[in-house]
Amino acid sequence: MIRIGFYGNASDIAKWETSLATRLSDFEINELLSDAGAASDVALVWAPPPHAFANCRNLRGIIMQGQGVDHMMRDDTVPRDLPLVRLIDPDMANALSHWAILNALDFWRDGAAYRAQQTAQTWRSLPQRPATGGRVGILGVGAIGSVIATRFAALGFDVRGFARSPKQIEGIELFVGMNQLADFASGLDIVVSVLPLTPQTTGIMDAAFFNSMAPGAFVINGGRGPQVVDDDLLAALESGQIGGAALDVFAVEPLPESHPFWTHPQVRVWPHVAAQTNATSAADQVAEAILRMMAGESPANRVDWARGY
Ligand code: OXD
Repeated sequence: MIRIGFYGNASDIAKWETSLATRLSDFEINELLSDAGAASDVALVWAPPPHAFANCRNLRGIIMQGQGVDHMMRDDTVPRDLPLVRLIDPDMANALSHWAILNALDFWRDGAAYRAQQTAQTWRSLPQRPATGGRVGILGVGAIGSVIATRFAALGFDVRGFARSPKQIEGIELFVGMNQLADFASGLDIVVSVLPLTPQTTGIMDAAFFNSMAPGAFVINGGRGPQVVDDDLLAALESGQIGGAALDVFAVEPLPESHPFWTHPQVRVWPHVAAQTNATSAADQVAEAILRMMAGESPANRVDWARGY
């Protein structure tokens, strides 16, 4: 019997039971913080509180229900000697690319202005931005960002990618390391972040970054909130240097009621929903990771504690 300890949205337990049932022969899922959860062999979690694993004496590894592990990095009660696995799910890459493209095209084709015109029953054309050659930059071109980059390229944009180490993605101009950040940002019409949160990426979209972009550019953040310096973004929106932003992630979530983003006319607030975990599409890799952990083998997509993701 494999005991899986679950932390996250408890109503998702039934979904995981169904999706894992065809892949694992003998298992049970209990809430991680319950008495039964303390006997867990493997934990399947999202944003567990500090000390969540303290009573789990049999634990062989931890599997995330998402991509990001920044909250695990910040919590020094998470055992460092056990494998920690993050989901790399093509379904999440699809979802995030849809969200990024939706927001980018809505900006590029003046969706907000035409919706306002419809409300006012005004029939008036605005100058159309170029259908070919708009400059889009993707901050983070790993499993998700590379999918987003190639899809923007297929839509006729000139696409740049920013990565921490060299790589090649066909049709994408790559910028590597912080030394090349300013060149990456220079003249961008749209930036999309899907970076993991690390000390290097914290505050990466600041006043200098926004000022390097094209006047009236658009900012899309599907990475982590602290990558945007909120006050710098608000100032850049105020000056018109940045024309708008779509944000799915925030330094504090839920976004506090008093935060100016809520009511800013040029900011679209999304409640961290750009790519939600799909228990069906992720089941193969979760089951595989569980079986490897149970066999004492190293699972795929293991987080590198030193790298920070
Ligand atoms: C994730 C997320 O990291 O949804 O998977 O933010």
